[in-house]
Amino acid sequence: MASLLSLLTIALSTSYAAAQTTVPLYGQCGGLGYTGSTVCVSGSFCNWDSDYFSQCIPGTAPPPYSGPINYWFPFGDSYTSTSFDPTSTLPNIHDPFGNPPFPGFTGGGGENYVGFDTETYNSSVIFTYNYAYGGATINASLVTPYEPTVLSLIDQVNEFLTGGVASKPATTPWTSANALFSVWIGVNDLAGSYGEPGDRGAFADTLLSEYFALMQKLVRFSSELLMFCRSDIHSSAVVRPSFCPDKHVLDENSAVGARNFLFLNVPRVDLTPLMVSEGATAQAQLAAVITDFNTRLASRVSSFKGNNTGVSTWLWDSNSVFTTILSNLKAYGFVDAVSYGNTGDFWGNNFHPGQAAHQIFAKDISTLMAGSLWF
Ligand SMILES: *[C@@H]1O[C@H](CO)[C@@H](O)[C@H](O)[C@H]1NC(C)=O
Ligand SMILES: *[C@@H]1O[C@H](CO)[C@@H](O)[C@H](O)[C@H]1NC(C)=O
Ligand SMILES: *[C@@H]1O[C@H](CO)[C@@H](O)[C@H](O)[C@H]1NC(C)=O
Repeated sequence: MASLLSLLTIALSTSYAAAQTTVPLYGQCGGLGYTGSTVCVSGSFCNWDSDYFSQCIPGTAPPPYSGPINYWFPFGDSYTSTSFDPTSTLPNIHDPFGNPPFPGFTGGGGENYVGFDTETYNSSVIFTYNYAYGGATINASLVTPYEPTVLSLIDQVNEFLTGGVASKPATTPWTSANALFSVWIGVNDLAGSYGEPGDRGAFADTLLSEYFALMQKLVRFSSELLMFCRSDIHSSAVVRPSFCPDKHVLDENSAVGARNFLFLNVPRVDLTPLMVSEGATAQAQLAAVITDFNTRLASRVSSFKGNNTGVSTWLWDSNSVFTTILSNLKAYGFVDAVSYGNTGDFWGNNFHPGQAAHQIFAKDISTLMAGSLWF
């Protein structure tokens, strides 16, 4: 018994000692994937070299950045994703994306509009938490994504709400005034369902009702809704309605506080090289479904704004921008409408615009939002 106790004591003091280990001069003290000590030996400090490597160097740490920081929370699919993992390194003064290293991994390769608007067309430092996920649909039960692991818009918003930063922790002190929420979704929903039988307009409304229920969750929960959903939690006889926020969000975070929303409508996916290869009939059918969806989206955006005093909305008409560029290719410096993957191509691959196109999108978005937030 006594020896067991002393063994335990030794084990405990060993792990205590390990927690106190200081990193020697020029040793590693941080970086993506690093799990060791971040405490530098006295007389040195942990200096950021790259996303993957911080090192103890002699001297004292410079004061932390004290200028204004704004926050951007994008949601969407591969047109927006930079492959951010919200459970890994968060955006910081050295890398406004946190992880993977800026500009991340994108659908079309290179930097996308999120990168350009975060780092090129910004008028302040922006920390961008990019929840968008490649392949995303709004609700995976309504339009099945290409892989079951894909995080839908529902999953992404819930990840934001429940993953920690919705509650404005010390790591991420966003406010209603300094944060932008943006959504660019629908490419996969429509490309994955336009040929289905049934009323496509009614289906668009189903998708949009779920989309805007999520936006409403980001704004706030009305006291009536809170009362209703809270009482419902205690009634095991009633099935929880899908518009009720998750139970622990209700309990801990009844006022989320999003106020600034940028919506991006569905672009001309009917003109992607992939759809061109499907033939003109399929392209025309998809184009019509997209136009109808976008009309309904625009009216949802006005209704959403009307329902929420203090909410500002912007709607970027990506569809028109694609049309304009693809019908004036030479004027924008592109070679043709169907080549992809090379310098001078609009498309980065057969379904995604490339970096040069994204830079034009980013500039256009910054013009749309000029004078607000950080644009
Ligand atoms: C724009 O963002 C970059 C990267 O965070 C930053 O270095 C730069 O200072 C920002 N620009 C302005 C005008 O604040
Ligand atoms: C997603 O769609 C399924 C199938 O229609 C539905 O049962 C579910 O409530 C939807 N989820 C949300 C959060 O709207
Ligand atoms: C605005 O509120 C009305 C009435 O509650 C509701 O029917 C409508 O869906 C709301 N609009 C949006 C976009 O959420």
